[in-house]
Amino acid sequence: VNDGFDEVVARMDSAMVIVTTSVGPKRSGCLVGFHSQCSIDPPRYAVWISKQNHTFGLLDGASHLAVHLLEESNQSLAELFGTTTGDRVDKFSACESSRGPGGVPVLDDVVNRFVGRKVSVTDEGGDHVCVVLEAVTAQVGPAGATVLRLSDEVDLDPGHQA
Ligand SMILES: Cc1cc2nc3c(=O)[nH]c(=O)nc-3n(C[C@H](O)[C@H](O)[C@H](O)COP(=O)(O)O)c2cc1C
Repeated sequence: VNDGFDEVVARMDSAMVIVTTSVGPKRSGCLVGFHSQCSIDPPRYAVWISKQNHTFGLLDGASHLAVHLLEESNQSLAELFGTTTGDRVDKFSACESSRGPGGVPVLDDVVNRFVGRKVSVTDEGGDHVCVVLEAVTAQVGPAGATVLRLSDEVDLDPGHQA
């Protein structure tokens, strides 16, 4: 692909989210830039998770995932979830979380978030798998805060290479 592809995608400047999930007592989550709504009725949302990530390892057994939209005040969470891996550290001992539907860990310090029931996981052969969620609960904070975007996080060194 020519350089234009990377540049067009960079100019989309995707909002940054943290995706979390759990299987029994095991919890995991990572910073994600690949995500989009993909159905209106029912309300569905897709996230793409790298096959290298600790989070990927929980997808088979997980019933729910939570998607957290990061704001400026959440920069330290972006670093925790984007640069460290559950293979080596327990990210949830370094932040405040509660249990949501299906036991999914919900990050207390992120005010805009929703929980989705896992509908499907599709591996089309690339380095990420597509997880489609049906939104079941959502919480929204005050409008107007600045959302963290890819351009704010490009200097982070990911816990895993894609
Ligand atoms: C700016 C940025 C965007 C990222 N986007 C994604 C993504 O869309 N999907 C993904 O699986 N990982 C993505 N990552 C990588 C993971 O967040 C990172 O490797 C994390 O440390 C993996 O944690 P885990 O091994 O505990 O799951 C991104 C990282 C950064 C810094």
